Amino acid sequence: MQKSAQSDSDKWSRYWSDGRIAACMADAGGSYGDQLGEQWRRWFEQLPECARVLDLATGNGALVHLALASGNGSRLRLVGVDYAAIEPWRQLPAALSEQKRIRFYGHTNIERMPFAAGMFDAVVSQYGAEYAETGASIAEAVRVLARGGCLRWVCHHRDSTIYRNTCSEIEHARFVLEQAQPDLLLAALLQRQIEAGRFIEQSHQRTASTPQRQALNAALQACVQRLRAATPASEFLDMVLQNLAYIYQHREQHTPELVLQKVAEVRVEMEVFLGRMQALVSSALDNDKVNTILARLAAHGMHAGEVEMVHKRNGDIIGVAISASKSTQAD
Ligand SMILES: C[S@@+](CC[C@H](N)C(=O)[O-])C[C@H]1O[C@@H](n2cnc3c(N)ncnc32)[C@H](O)[C@@H]1O
Repeated sequence: MQKSAQSDSDKWSRYWSDGRIAACMADAGGSYGDQLGEQWRRWFEQLPECARVLDLATGNGALVHLALASGNGSRLRLVGVDYAAIEPWRQLPAALSEQKRIRFYGHTNIERMPFAAGMFDAVVSQYGAEYAETGASIAEAVRVLARGGCLRWVCHHRDSTIYRNTCSEIEHARFVLEQAQPDLLLAALLQRQIEAGRFIEQSHQRTASTPQRQALNAALQACVQRLRAATPASEFLDMVLQNLAYIYQHREQHTPELVLQKVAEVRVEMEVFLGRMQALVSSALDNDKVNTILARLAAHGMHAGEVEMVHKRNGDIIGVAISASKSTQAD
């Protein structure tokens, strides 16, 4: 498979530029699930008034939105950082960002942040901190936390349905990118039609069984069958089939070169999707990694954290919550 030249942060920048709020197999409504949202709201509500809250690896600010929706929302001072080129203020009511109650920092690694020590009363993360280098991100989170401050990270876990579903999506993506390759077959068919001067062929001109058309039909059929059989539903297969069908059906609106370029972009989109899914799977914690995080937090003087699996109302595990607090005394 051709390797994408995009860095991990570029892949996320591309993802967030669509204005999505949530990532990682979010619900259709774009949130991460009933229970998780409720837990966060309760957690934000027990923070002191005017607490300064830092959201690590914020993406388009899903967690900041939850903080705003909590009973404390109008009083918290919120900051989000992410190494992607994020612009979440586009989704926020202008007044909030104008008042500077919410600040977002893109292009910022959580392993090295531009904040003074002790600047925050809470450091939170939702499916974010575990993507970064563990030692450096923990040291940095503890550094920017004020004495008596607290930390709560909800991380991917290998026992979660998100992890399992993501493994299935990776299999679908590999099948499409490496075996079925409908995008490459569509490009070959279009190329042949262009060379034959029949780019926009009428149905009566269609040569029903050119080898290119047969190969494309077989590949599409295989993808459709996979989509129909997929449980849970595959966002990846749906995205690929819809994009290719749309490009083909609307090809007469563009030049042949542009249509071929759009088909090539579908491959880039698929590789970016696969890259995100692979990053999720490799960042997901198992119990040993959770213990490593707890040990590192303790080594930085944090009070023993609480660990709790997070469930949806239907019982599905959707992550693990790790909490800890910083001593009120100097070391
Ligand atoms: C799964 S998304 C979660 C985003 C957000 N917290 C949410 O709940 O929707 C993971 C985020 O981590 C960011 N990220 C990964 N590694 C990072 C790092 N080392 N420093 C800063 N951000 C990072 C990515 O850019 C991406 O936005």
